Amino acid sequence: MADIDGKSLALQMQEQLAQEVQSAVAAGKRPPHLVAVLVGENPASRTYVRNKMLACKRVGMTSQILALPNETAEEELLEHIRALNADASVDGFIVQLPLPSHIDSDKVLLHIAPEKDVDGFHPLNIGRMTLGLPSYVPATPWGITQMLLHYNIPTEGKQCVILGRSNIVGRPLSILLSQNAPYGNATVTVLHSRSRNVERHCREADILVAAIGKPHFVRADMVKEGAVVIDVGINKIPDPDAPKGYRIVGDVDYAAVKDKCSWITPVPGGVGPMTVTGLLYNTWKAYRREVYHSTPVGV
Ligand SMILES: NC(=O)c1ccc[n+]([C@@H]2O[C@H](COP(=O)([O-])OP(=O)(O)OC[C@H]3O[C@@H](n4cnc5c(N)ncnc54)[C@H](OP(=O)(O)O)[C@@H]3O)[C@@H](O)[C@H]2O)c1
Repeated sequence: MADIDGKSLALQMQEQLAQEVQSAVAAGKRPPHLVAVLVGENPASRTYVRNKMLACKRVGMTSQILALPNETAEEELLEHIRALNADASVDGFIVQLPLPSHIDSDKVLLHIAPEKDVDGFHPLNIGRMTLGLPSYVPATPWGITQMLLHYNIPTEGKQCVILGRSNIVGRPLSILLSQNAPYGNATVTVLHSRSRNVERHCREADILVAAIGKPHFVRADMVKEGAVVIDVGINKIPDPDAPKGYRIVGDVDYAAVKDKCSWITPVPGGVGPMTVTGLLYNTWKAYRREVYHSTPVGV
């Protein structure tokens, strides 16, 4: 078994990006600028947004948090989004999910201008990604494809099983891995809460991706000998010995599974840092107008 070290790959990719940003700035351009809209006081969301802003700083991008109170009305949030769409100094922005329950997340995402949608959640960007056109690929699935490529993990003809069908992880990843691409050509099965024979499907996987948000859901007896295991889960579990009284674990029982598989992503230090890197790459693409200036005529 070997760890897929997402943390050091992320730092390596961020260093490369920092050099490109530096060259642009040295040539007299302003740095790329990312805005994160944060509604309410969800502690996990605050941490995620803070980490994203720190990563921007590391690569020389500027960033800003637009923090709004929990009671913000949907229309008021939409007004902010229209302003960000129109603001030429903003290359891209994200609306951190989840939003408070009185706000319709789908409606909000539809209001983000596709060319500034650096999370890649707008239907137009998902559609473009699905068709293999230039797009902003959602950060977590993108990060997973980059890890597979970097570690030369073959996907062609492999049986890939994805636990979870969310719009931000499982579903876009299933599209990418089944595409005719260097990280693709896999045969993909997507499992969800209504799936039957989940354990049997998992045992058949050459590449098993867990993205369901259930601590230690994947046990050793659900993993085929020599499989590649990608753990997307981020779960807090109580731990009286930890300084904060809890620790973060994935959806996979790492200690039990690690000796059975060929490659595995640890939690933390696996998929998470690559997700942040994906956002930075999308912001760079937005800054360079790579996606929408390369739109083929008629699309
Ligand atoms: N590392 C990172 O950078 C990163 C990024 C994003 C998310 N995450 C973490 O990844 C996890 C998943 O996130 P998400 O946003 O994709 O979650 P989500 O929106 O809650 O989706 C969970 C998915 O798991 C499925 N599911 C639930 N129980 C299941 C079961 N027993 N068997 C099979 N499928 C089951 C659900 O099925 P239904 O569709 O039928 O409900 C759903 O499709 C969370 O822990 C999250 O914190 C990590």
